Amino acid sequence: MMSQTDMSTDVIEKNNSDLLSGTYPIKVMAYKVDTPLSISTLGNGNNSLNYTIELHIGEREKIGQGTFGKVYKAKLLTTQEIVAIKEVEMEEKFKSRELDMLKTMIHPNIVRLKYFFHSSSSIKDLLCLIMEFMPMSAHRLISDYRRNHKILPLFYIKLFSYQMLRGLGYLHTQGVAHRDVKPANMIVDYEAGILKICDLGSAKKLNKNEKSVSYVCTRYYRAPELLLGCTEYTTAVDIWSAGCCLAEFLNGYAIFRGIDSSDQMYRIIKIIGIPTRDELREMNSRYTGSVDLTIITFTPRTLRGYLPEHTQESAFILLEQLLKYKPNERITCQNALASEFFIELKQRSIFLPNKRILPSLFNFYDNELSKHSHLYSAIVPDFIRNNLAEIHELDNHTSSLK
Ligand SMILES: Nc1ncnc2c1ncn2[C@@H]1O[C@H](COP(=O)(O)OP(=O)(O)OP(=O)(O)O)[C@@H](O)[C@H]1O
Ligand SMILES: [Mg+2]
Repeated sequence: MMSQTDMSTDVIEKNNSDLLSGTYPIKVMAYKVDTPLSISTLGNGNNSLNYTIELHIGEREKIGQGTFGKVYKAKLLTTQEIVAIKEVEMEEKFKSRELDMLKTMIHPNIVRLKYFFHSSSSIKDLLCLIMEFMPMSAHRLISDYRRNHKILPLFYIKLFSYQMLRGLGYLHTQGVAHRDVKPANMIVDYEAGILKICDLGSAKKLNKNEKSVSYVCTRYYRAPELLLGCTEYTTAVDIWSAGCCLAEFLNGYAIFRGIDSSDQMYRIIKIIGIPTRDELREMNSRYTGSVDLTIITFTPRTLRGYLPEHTQESAFILLEQLLKYKPNERITCQNALASEFFIELKQRSIFLPNKRILPSLFNFYDNELSKHSHLYSAIVPDFIRNNLAEIHELDNHTSSLK
């Protein structure tokens, strides 16, 4: 089997004549991303061997236009799979952090990369990521409910926010921050009750003592330390964003809607309160920017006042733990998964409102949550803990049948 580097030139030549324009079906040579059956053997990109395969791509339909690329829905005539194809301009020849991340981050709540191929024209180098397709983004789902003057049923809020936190927890365990957590970067299959995190285009492995740019994350979801220009942040930036997402699930609207960075900080203060000197220091001790806290004369509302009246106490408690000013005091994903808010998901024999079975929520692998961790028993219900070995076997068996 040839390595990826051996084959790069070959694949590019074959795809040179057209990218995804032209007459359908389009024939491309793509790398197949092989994913081993057991997640426990992963975490290391070299384990997933890539080999090339000829794909015939049927007519495509545009489903997303982001800052960095376009996303299409298409059918692979070769395999009959419905897929999402994301076309991104390459930052550097044959280098893409998103591709590297997608190849290594294998998890039930992270979108799965199936194939990829490069294509170059005289104008630009493009990378096409062929991923599993999910019917809509969480952003679209929330907007659809809002348009009908409704919010998502509480059961789905729990189900989706649990999976969001589980996917993020997996990234964080590997030291990776997503850095653009927002409902538009989460894709859902409502009928199956599944949520997956997508768009790893901003994700980065954060190393201690290494600076990272603070201008990351979409404004509404940007953590206060980033708004204050901090460059030595941690994965807790995603926890803030996850808190904003939970609030949006609960309320139907983005919680902090600033028109620029300073306004964003004021909007946060209006609901969370004026940060203390201590909190400010922990967000960014060197801050010298334009947010002037001494001019604040208004009395902040409370988080409780922002949430709909009948919101469960456990939702409010979790939200408060996610939206802490001090990054180190924000709850971790795994602690959040143990929150009382998710107890309803841990009952024996529950079904989705459409009577379908729930997706696997507790099939943790060792590189995600160790069975010896005290949190394991707090997250995984007893009846599953006793049967887990069988569940893993079953999962492996089903994926080998796919
Ligand atoms: N696998 C997928 N299945 C279905 N829809 C998807 C999939 N991946 C992405 N999308 C849709 O396409 C949109 C854009 O994708 P993505 O966020 O990866 O691109 P982007 O260019 O990085 O976007 P942005 O700059 O807006 O964050 C998503 O919001 C989602 O609606
Ligand atoms: Mg995006």
